Amino acid sequence: MGSQVEPGVWSEGFLLRAAQRSENGDPQWSAGSELDPAIVRSLQKFQVGESGDGAHLIANAAAAGDRDYEAAVRLFVAEEQNHARMLALLLDAGGAQTKRWHWSDSVFVRLRRLLGLRLELMILTIAEVVALRYYRALADGGGDRLLVDVSERILADEVHHVPFQTRRLRLGFRDTSAPARFAIRQIWRAMAAAVIVVVALDHGRAVCVCGVSRREFVITTMRIFDDTAAEVFS
Ligand SMILES: [Fe+2]
Ligand SMILES: [Fe+2]
Repeated sequence: MGSQVEPGVWSEGFLLRAAQRSENGDPQWSAGSELDPAIVRSLQKFQVGESGDGAHLIANAAAAGDRDYEAAVRLFVAEEQNHARMLALLLDAGGAQTKRWHWSDSVFVRLRRLLGLRLELMILTIAEVVALRYYRALADGGGDRLLVDVSERILADEVHHVPFQTRRLRLGFRDTSAPARFAIRQIWRAMAAAVIVVVALDHGRAVCVCGVSRREFVITTMRIFDDTAAEVFS
């Protein structure tokens, strides 16, 4: 598994975090967890979303012809799978089960499969931005000790994922004409707004339990998105 990886600009941060993770060990699952039912239902969906094998993304990254970037994408996928693993253990600690499938995840995966690397990264970045706001809400307002611990650990990775995607996107759109960049940015923003509204509706009860209203969730997540889009296109 990734035995040939030599630290490079893309993969270095992932390698450092992987080393840190094995040094820090896992949250204390045996402490158990008391989760609000709305948070359980919400986490079950996010757990499915975090658990993809990333095969299509890895293939797209491989086709880009940069070995270090490809290695970084593999490490990125492993990091997301670790989020899925922790969420499954958190749910288990709270006496809840994981789900195998959720419609929003399969729509996302299907859409991404139709696309090349840049468009796949644009869709993925929307999910990363949502994750940043979502886990922040859980970490700040979730209350339960294990939930807060897992959310903080996931966040610590997610804050690096957005710059990882935007850096590659910036490179990908470097030679795109100004009018095309403008149009792509507008379409991307409309897609992000649609996704964020759907997430706010679908996970509204869970974030409300954490003290964030649906409206506030949409506004603050869009703010993160706008900052992110500026990183790519400015
Ligand atoms: Fe994640
Ligand atoms: Fe992520």
